[in-house]
Amino acid sequence: MNALVHARQQAQLAFAASDANLVVGEASACPLPPAALATMTPADPCVVEQFSGGLTARVLHLCIEGVHYTLKQRREEALVRNIDGQTSFLNEVQRRADFTRLKADPAWAGRFDHIVPTLYADYRQGIILSPWLPGQAPTQLDADLFDQLLSTMVACEEAGLMEWDLCPGNLLVDQGHLWLFDFGYMYPFDPLHHYNSNGLSDPLFHACERFETRFFFGWLLNQALPMEAQLALYRQLKQVALTHYAGKRAHLAARGAIPDVLAWLDELMARWQQALASPSALAACFELEAFRSHVLDIEDDLHGQSCTATTLKRIDFVCQALTHRHAALAAGGALFYDNAGRDQASLLALYAHKRQQAQGWLLPGH
Ligand SMILES: Nc1ncnc2c1ncn2[C@@H]1O[C@H](COP(=O)(O)OP(=O)(O)OP(=O)(O)O)[C@@H](O)[C@H]1O
Ligand SMILES: [Mg+2]
Repeated sequence: MNALVHARQQAQLAFAASDANLVVGEASACPLPPAALATMTPADPCVVEQFSGGLTARVLHLCIEGVHYTLKQRREEALVRNIDGQTSFLNEVQRRADFTRLKADPAWAGRFDHIVPTLYADYRQGIILSPWLPGQAPTQLDADLFDQLLSTMVACEEAGLMEWDLCPGNLLVDQGHLWLFDFGYMYPFDPLHHYNSNGLSDPLFHACERFETRFFFGWLLNQALPMEAQLALYRQLKQVALTHYAGKRAHLAARGAIPDVLAWLDELMARWQQALASPSALAACFELEAFRSHVLDIEDDLHGQSCTATTLKRIDFVCQALTHRHAALAAGGALFYDNAGRDQASLLALYAHKRQQAQGWLLPGH
């Protein structure tokens, strides 16, 4: 277990077990007393609709005196059976406190305009109140959406916040404006000395990778676009990412980031620049990154014992790739962690086993 992750989990568990509270904002911003919001049920006349699919919280869309709100209520027992799932409500209240500070800080003006404002949050009451954001999960991907997302994620990383869960259910687009509103798996870190909230141990993880892993490659799997269209989108994503990563590198360098962190960013950017240099280089990078993202996301779902039809599709993709492209994937460094050094037969057996596990952990309704 990573020491930084362990320390963060222990601190959160200790906070949860203590009597301490964390409150964001003023109760006077609430249209009803916080205690009434905490006990509100979906049967209440203020409730317009509910989102009960969440694993750690219930989300209610409220309308009170003509004003629309989003009320997130903590579940008594999180449906994700791991520590990060169980502490994700506390984690989100902590991040709401961070964003409330950052949004008010002139040094960061405008850089968190895609982060939902928090009207009020109270950890012990188990409530987070935000404005209701009309809109839907993105259905179309384009350079503008990539730009809104990565500019925000890079601002978060520069400010020392690493978002891990950029899945489709955590993004909303309202008339072209992207909103982020779920911070259950966003963790603080020191961007001058660490790659991400795991410290220096996992260079694989960063904003663009998180979007590719939790959203982009899964979305492509469900769209069945021609390969040319997939590569065109991937090219746009890399172009946008390069711009924002260059900005992040300059920001961190100016503030004294250690050489390790700067070299890591330089290497990532060099790889993408090389991919953008020719169609064949782009296709090679796409193959490696699609495989990497599916492998990583499968582990996320299995770890949380929360699998869906897309988890099964990802496993099938990985099996196909291992069957036909094992040598290229091994040579390109796509076999890492538990997959490192394994031969083709052992990997195929491993993923057949993962498929069985995933079938046993399909979430209700999937
Ligand atoms: N401010 C908001 N405006 C509009 N819709 C929202 C807002 N916040 C949440 N939603 C809707 O509610 C759904 C669930 O919200 P959210 O992602 O915050 O919680 P969750 O996924 O249930 O929690 P967790 O990720 O901790 O399991 C979202 O997918 C979105 O459709
Ligand atoms: Mg969510």
